[in-house]
Amino acid sequence: MALVTLRKLLDAAAAGNYGVGGFNVNNMEQIQAIMEAARETNSPVILQASRGARKYANDKFLYHLMLAANEIYPDLPIVLHQDHGTRDACISAVDMGFTSVMIDGSLLDDGKTPSPFEDNVRVTKEIVNYAHAKGVSVEGELGCIGGIDDGHGIGAGDPSKYLTDPDQAVEFVERTGVDALAVAIGTSHGVYKFTQKPDHSVLVMDRIIEIHKRLPNTHLVMHGSSSVPQELLEMINKYGGAIKPTWGVPVEEIQLGIQHGVRKINVDTDLRLAMTGAIRKFFVEKPEGFDPRDYLKEARELVKEVLATRMKAFGQAGHAGDIRT
Ligand code: G3H
Ligand code: 13P
Ligand code: ZN
Repeated sequence: MALVTLRKLLDAAAAGNYGVGGFNVNNMEQIQAIMEAARETNSPVILQASRGARKYANDKFLYHLMLAANEIYPDLPIVLHQDHGTRDACISAVDMGFTSVMIDGSLLDDGKTPSPFEDNVRVTKEIVNYAHAKGVSVEGELGCIGGIDDGHGIGAGDPSKYLTDPDQAVEFVERTGVDALAVAIGTSHGVYKFTQKPDHSVLVMDRIIEIHKRLPNTHLVMHGSSSVPQELLEMINKYGGAIKPTWGVPVEEIQLGIQHGVRKINVDTDLRLAMTGAIRKFFVEKPEGFDPRDYLKEARELVKEVLATRMKAFGQAGHAGDIRT
């Protein structure tokens, strides 16, 4: 099957009332794990590469690995998505053949100050014009997701400064024409999201419900949505790691979001935790081991298991056939 656009995939998800994981990739084993989980569950796939991933792997390596996935799994629809792109990263992704880009116009060039609304509209609109002319979808972002975006987490300062404003969301979507909108609701990137299992005072699901009421036809995106399973933290720490107590986004909250217009759920940290847990375990149990294939195989298998569970929980399992090109 030809690669598909994010728009096409999320339109199908909206029609079927399910969500689709946007899984971050940096190397071959992660791509293989995602694709095997998708094959096992018959799921549509969003493979997404951050600017850091493109730099780490080298653009061409990563892009061709993703194309290989498309050749090897012809029955699974796949979106190639640029995650958190600058203007230039989005343009190069479109030119390279990605089928979707996220323009992250929520911050100024210093990478930490929330950008003025008008600046965000301007750069997002520019990318929408460029991408749509070439048949590529665009995800925009309004509000600041903690971690990457504000550099110190949503808890610092006045949250209303960072959370997505529903009125502005309506204006942003109308003026930019984005295909999907990433909203800030209190999540942050990375492993340290919440100091205890989050309630709705810190994970503000009401914002999603409110935004969806005003924009019922816009596909919403939840970033920073790894669930940070306690068992993976225990596994890492049992085998020599030192991750401090922390909580992620509970799967049942994501499912609530899906009932209110969330169609794309971004997950990266959980893949990292699974790989690290499996590799740490391998080295403790088999100190004589030295063949990277042996420990990367374990890592790949655990990522696959975690993601197959997520694909079922998000509802995308069984829906690969919804998309026809
Ligand atoms: O958006 C955040 C993703 O987890 C990507 O992280 O920039 O370290 O590749 P990264
Ligand atoms: P996590 O750090 O929660 O996996 O979030 C990933 C993400 O939002 C990528 O854009
Ligand atoms: Zn993100």
